Amino acid sequence: MAKTKNSAFFCQECGYESAKWMGQCPACKAWNTFVEEPTAPKSASGGPAGGKPSGKVLKPVTLSKVEMAGRQRFSSGIGELDRVLGGGMIPGSLVLVGGDPGIGKSTLLLQVCRNVAADGKKVLYISGEESLQQIKIRAQRIGEFSESLLLLCETNLDDIAEVLKQEKPEAAVIDSVQTMYSEAVASAPGSVSQVRQATNLFLQLAKTLDITIFLVGHVTKEGVVAGPRVLEHMVDTVLYFEGDRYAAYRILRSVKNRFGSTNEIGVFEMRKDGLAQVPNPSEYMLNGKPEGASGSVVACSMEGTRPILVEIQALVCKTGFGLPRRTAAGADLNRVNLLMAVLEKRAGINLSSCDAYINIAGGIRMNEPAIDLGIVLAIVSSYKEIPIHDKTICFGEVGLSGEVRAVSMPMQRVQEARKLGFERCILPKVCVTEHLKSEGMEIVGVSSVREAIARMGAN
Ligand code: TYD
Ligand code: MG
Repeated sequence: MAKTKNSAFFCQECGYESAKWMGQCPACKAWNTFVEEPTAPKSASGGPAGGKPSGKVLKPVTLSKVEMAGRQRFSSGIGELDRVLGGGMIPGSLVLVGGDPGIGKSTLLLQVCRNVAADGKKVLYISGEESLQQIKIRAQRIGEFSESLLLLCETNLDDIAEVLKQEKPEAAVIDSVQTMYSEAVASAPGSVSQVRQATNLFLQLAKTLDITIFLVGHVTKEGVVAGPRVLEHMVDTVLYFEGDRYAAYRILRSVKNRFGSTNEIGVFEMRKDGLAQVPNPSEYMLNGKPEGASGSVVACSMEGTRPILVEIQALVCKTGFGLPRRTAAGADLNRVNLLMAVLEKRAGINLSSCDAYINIAGGIRMNEPAIDLGIVLAIVSSYKEIPIHDKTICFGEVGLSGEVRAVSMPMQRVQEARKLGFERCILPKVCVTEHLKSEGMEIVGVSSVREAIARMGAN
């Protein structure tokens, strides 16, 4: 008779399950992440194919017969968060908020609790990390709180489930999911099985009690929610809170959203009285841009539905060693290397013996290919020591043959630039329309990198 084993090894990074211990996870390639955890014993009858039907009479329905739940989205009182969520909080949804320690997750969610409670809705804030006194100290910095906010310090899942069932709040915050544990699971809090158990339970509670639940999750240094990437599949919405810990601003990004678009970002600033919204991020990002300096270009990136202007800086200098150094902060280094190769080959600029340092000012990360043209022009501007006119912006994707390719929503980008006082825009020729020209800016359509370089300096 086969020996039944009640434990398995789980990768603490991605949740990969294996019967044996392994040094490296085959799924996420992380080293030394396998930990033995007990698994629930499987019943003898096995999975759905071998089991018996429960006896319930199930009837599929048509879409038109589906009744909409009575309650609609409600506002969190923070416009930036509402936009990232897709227009407000949805009753019965489970939202995971990930981020580095100290980035401001607890602060943001306490502010949400405050706003929702101020509307007269019942809110429950459950902390497994801080004592009631510590929460109060934080709350005093944020401001006045109404009586409909309830606090609880607890880490036992079953007790928390009881409290949620009794109190039936409209929104709840669990800070953090890694501190919660269930007695039914033998492994330590924060392990894959515990976190999975906790998320499953909160998912059920959110759906059956119609509560919006926010789960706080810590992030490992690789930038994934610690342990459980499995968790991302289970929840409705995943938000990441990111930013430079030494800079004051914070970016809230949605990476998964069952009820709205992803790619939206919300911009916040950490003040001494909590997080404040930054309604015009472009102005904020361009703060302190040097005038008349070479190697500095303003580019435009679409983050969700919002255009954001950023300053791209490049410093190109002769390398002192055989192997040139390249770094990129805020942009993808591979992309920068690729663009430098394009410049070398298609525009005849000899960069192979040059060090290059690229930085997106303000510490924000941008991944949209539309900033390619900005990176290219910043490199050329620094290499040739030609400053680009202060009132010029650019956007466009650069292809491997040195062509400047179309990007989406050129109109929104041009309008944003004009709003901030820019006068000249270098953009892909295919995006130029009569409508765009009537926006009151000088529109320079370019079809290749060479052409963009030739026209970048003219005032
Ligand atoms: P916190 O919300 O505790 O971070 P997390 O829950 O993500 O770990 O944020 C803590 C940081 O924010 C801490 O470094 C202090 C700072 N902070 C302010 O600057 N102003 C404030 O009003 C508050 C409450 C915190
Ligand atoms: Mg916290």
